[in-house]
Amino acid sequence: MDKYFKKLPQELREIIRQACWVSQKTRMPAYLVGGCLRDLILGVKNLDLDITIEGSGIIFSRHLAQKIRSKLIIHERFGTATLILSNNLKVDIATTRQERYPHFAALPEVKPGSLKEDLKRRDFTINAMALSLAADKSKKIIDPFGGQNDLVSGRIRVLHDLSFKDDPTRILRAVRFSQRFGFKIEPKTLLLLKEAIADGLLNKVNPHRMRDELILILKEQHPFRLIKALNHLGALSFISAQLKIDRATRGLFLSVAKEIAWFIKNFPARRQLDSWLIYFTVLLESLTLPQIKIIVNRLGLRKGEEKRMISYYQGRRKIIPVLSKKQVAPEKIFSLLEPLSYETIILLSATSQNKNFKKYLKDFFEIYNGMRLCISGHDLGGLGVLPGPEYQKIFAKVLAAKLNGQVRNRQTELALIKRLVYKT
Ligand code: CTP
Repeated sequence: MDKYFKKLPQELREIIRQACWVSQKTRMPAYLVGGCLRDLILGVKNLDLDITIEGSGIIFSRHLAQKIRSKLIIHERFGTATLILSNNLKVDIATTRQERYPHFAALPEVKPGSLKEDLKRRDFTINAMALSLAADKSKKIIDPFGGQNDLVSGRIRVLHDLSFKDDPTRILRAVRFSQRFGFKIEPKTLLLLKEAIADGLLNKVNPHRMRDELILILKEQHPFRLIKALNHLGALSFISAQLKIDRATRGLFLSVAKEIAWFIKNFPARRQLDSWLIYFTVLLESLTLPQIKIIVNRLGLRKGEEKRMISYYQGRRKIIPVLSKKQVAPEKIFSLLEPLSYETIILLSATSQNKNFKKYLKDFFEIYNGMRLCISGHDLGGLGVLPGPEYQKIFAKVLAAKLNGQVRNRQTELALIKRLVYKT
């Protein structure tokens, strides 16, 4: 197994070493489990470690955090903990448990259990393996359901017949993993998946859980492929029965993908985009604004997310017509686009073919975005101007000059306000 560890970042390897040590010291058996083990075997990059403990995950996590001096977040209610490391790396620690679903699509009742029981509660064979972190060199994979075999054969397979009914979010997960790894959903699993969809179980899950799964779908590398596959299975009605996925949707997804790639390539230092939100907005393109608001509400999107979506619809009506004209002044471009989020602007760009508009967007990102004045009211006060509407007029003129490249720094801005105040 050590050959797999070689592919891990040095920091994670060190953590595994320390976890072995803590396991030995506390006499609590520790295992690497779930997606991180699957990815380790596949040789796929994964920056999260999932460790499960026979004993107490919380006590174990305290020891480990102390040993490696990392930040520790404890989730008492769930009996889990997260160690936050540098470079986006994190380690989730849980206690081995068993689960029982009181009824289909409900949250499971949880109680401590053995490793075997912990693996048995999981979604697919490829995610139901464990690697013992015992200090001896025999580090062996515990694989009671044939996960390694399914990894080699490229198969997504559930552990038991009620898996999708117990937890219908696994329907989305099955499609996500099958697309991500190019795996086939094994025939019986596919039958069970379709049965759960036909029984309407996706609509019985708490919509917030469905939202989280949908976001993961939209964060995958080729989200439209997943959307198409889910639509084909009839698994998108939890969003809306009116949702229409067609060639136009495909075109929009492709166009958005191009815009996102352009933005990331050209402006790597700007804040990270919420690409999923952009895809989610175009996914709902066939619906009316009131329908969209109902969906956003039901799925419990955050206020800021809703705002970015809505401003796209407003922007389409109000901003595109203005910025489709020839020769729009820089201050107009700035005043229309600066209040918008990057997500909204990318949506507008992806859905418009107008050349002028595209050119202004490029100018905005390259030149105007984030432009601020170096002078303040203090400088105007120093010239004897009393606070009031005159301030705004002067600032607007200086900003226009700055956007036009006529002033560039504090010195030239000061010279300009002097000229404006003394009208020289
Ligand atoms: N799991 C499950 N059923 C779910 C969600 C998760 O059985 N509905 C189990 C799986 O064993 C999974 C593990 O919990 O591997 C961790 O879940 P998560 O972090 O969501 O998934 P990963 O498999 O790590 O997938 P990803 O690579 O997308 O993070």
